[in-house]
Amino acid sequence: MPRTVFLLNGPNLNLLGTREPEIYGHETLGDIETMCANRAAEHGLALDFRQSNHEGEIVTWIQEARLAADGLIINPAAYTHTSVAIQDALRMFEGPVIELHLSNTHKREAFRHHSFVSPVATGVIMGFGPRGYALALDAMATLLMEAD
Ligand code: DQA
Repeated sequence: MPRTVFLLNGPNLNLLGTREPEIYGHETLGDIETMCANRAAEHGLALDFRQSNHEGEIVTWIQEARLAADGLIINPAAYTHTSVAIQDALRMFEGPVIELHLSNTHKREAFRHHSFVSPVATGVIMGFGPRGYALALDAMATLLMEAD
């Protein structure tokens, strides 16, 4: 059975490509999903890639991951800085959790410096643009292999 990884994307990431390209780059979320599908296949991982603009839906997906996923990669977008509910849901997930951001949030506005997700993440990848998604999958493959 291949290991399954959920890769969850938060609000406004559906607009990648046109959204502040000087910060987030020109690739669309569809481009990133295709790249992730290829990278996951190279690692023999089954990938479930999703995006939502709704906090509650993301919480429900994290709860679903408890039964359906071995590892969780999440770019919670703006909810990173606001969501106790996402932190609480992640606390209940037993596998590795990678927090992922396209931008280096520490180089940006002060309100982006605090993350509710980092204290419950195995590790954080930020500042590498879309490439960070591939790095996160590489790291997840290693973590899941080590856990065997
Ligand atoms: C982001 C950083 C967040 O501060 C922001 O709200 C986003 C995207 C990133 O990937 O760089 O929507 O998570």
